[in-house]
Amino acid sequence: MAKQNKLAVFTHLEEEFVPAGLLILTEENTTVIASEFAYGLKYLARHNAIEIDPVSLSIADKAAVRKRRILPAADLKMFGGIRDAAPDAWGRCVIEAKLNAKANVLSESTYLLEAGSNRVGALDVRLDINAPTQDGHQSVTDLHYLLDAAERIEEGRPIPANLEMIFQAGASLGGARPKATVRDEHGVLWLAKFKSINERLNIPHIEAATLQLAAECGMTVPEVKVTQVGDRDVMLIRRFDRYWAKAGEAAPKGDALYRTTPGDGRIEKRLHFVSALTLLACDEMRSREKSYSDLAQAIRKYCDHAVIRDNNRELFARMVYNIFVSNDDDHPRNHGFLWDPVIKGWRLSPLYDVMPRPTVATERYLFLGVGQAGRLATLDNAMTAKEMFNLSEREAAAIIAHVWEKVREWKSYFEKFGASAQSIDQAANAYRHIDQISTPKLRTLLP
Ligand SMILES: Nc1ncnc2c1ncn2[C@@H]1O[C@H](COP(=O)(O)OP(=O)(O)OP(=O)(O)O)[C@@H](O)[C@H]1O
Ligand SMILES: [Mg+2]
Repeated sequence: MAKQNKLAVFTHLEEEFVPAGLLILTEENTTVIASEFAYGLKYLARHNAIEIDPVSLSIADKAAVRKRRILPAADLKMFGGIRDAAPDAWGRCVIEAKLNAKANVLSESTYLLEAGSNRVGALDVRLDINAPTQDGHQSVTDLHYLLDAAERIEEGRPIPANLEMIFQAGASLGGARPKATVRDEHGVLWLAKFKSINERLNIPHIEAATLQLAAECGMTVPEVKVTQVGDRDVMLIRRFDRYWAKAGEAAPKGDALYRTTPGDGRIEKRLHFVSALTLLACDEMRSREKSYSDLAQAIRKYCDHAVIRDNNRELFARMVYNIFVSNDDDHPRNHGFLWDPVIKGWRLSPLYDVMPRPTVATERYLFLGVGQAGRLATLDNAMTAKEMFNLSEREAAAIIAHVWEKVREWKSYFEKFGASAQSIDQAANAYRHIDQISTPKLRTLLP
């Protein structure tokens, strides 16, 4: 029988959570069959109110959304912005372990409520407007406990009391791999990504070096490092949805936002996040039908006009890079957007979750459509889509050449970043030579 659950949605504005509105989820057992949302009038009256998501819950026209029960766009069952604040596969496993529940038996409202206040972005979801913040992250010095706990969760073993810290540090997180949020000695927050017990490759080193190489190619990438905990490697990627600024002080501009630090009276603030899945108004089951060109279109529609050109250029570079490194896990939840408090608009988030996939296949495909030849991972195919990114042939060719200039040296970069010879061997069948993914004709266009 269907049941209606009323949940309070908060957004983190400046330095604290404030109630933003009421979410009504109609659920039948574990399935959400409908959603409704109403913004609070007090919330809409705030000068700094932010929208839960720009597709279904835009507040550009505050008068239009007042007193109105809003339904998700495109007949979706959930609002994209709310789904992005819900835990994904890993966070769900942590919550199930905490509640001693079997896999996927809990309701969506339970997962939403149990995720805690430290979830990605600036939202929180609570039982009612008086419910307190449930902050949860651990110190980087607790990583060995968190690794032990994550291993137990993967193996389906119970969590003893001394490892329960994973319930706060891991419950809110998206993605499928084991992970936790930790704070370093300066107070900066990092997402710690562990190697799954089922994985053969040295994922932390390969993912970290691939992200660092993307930064060398000129893409916006959060700080990334690998730390050894006993005999286990952990990748740490700085959380890009948190920054520090003094009360009343303007947020830093552009990429400087992702490099601020606590201390000297600076307060922790949050950047609101939505995934590309949300901007595409797409059900996850249909995400394979989407393409990078759809994403470029979404950037034009929803991002601030000041960043559209740069963001589309960077998106094209990311697509080209994914072709070079055989990252076929480039699904729409692995592309994100942040609400920038300086430009007061949406922008592409820094790059994350780029995982090369070694294979012997000569014909490879990305997850998202690339160009006129569909998902085929070739540079010629990427070139057919250049207009969708507002790029001339010369500009697109220059981006490809710039990425190739770095990728051709990937082994030296891996060594420079501290990846072992074993990691380099393991990644070798993922990294591609330009001759494998382009025709001679395309190569004549490169500067
Ligand atoms: N540096 C970061 N700062 C803030 N949030 C992040 C960061 N990196 C990732 N996220 C968020 O956490 C989620 C999970 O991270 P990520 O995609 O890296 O994990 P994953 O388990 O490898 O995912 P997948 O299941 O796609 O393989 C992302 O979808 C994104 O919402
Ligand atoms: Mg991911």
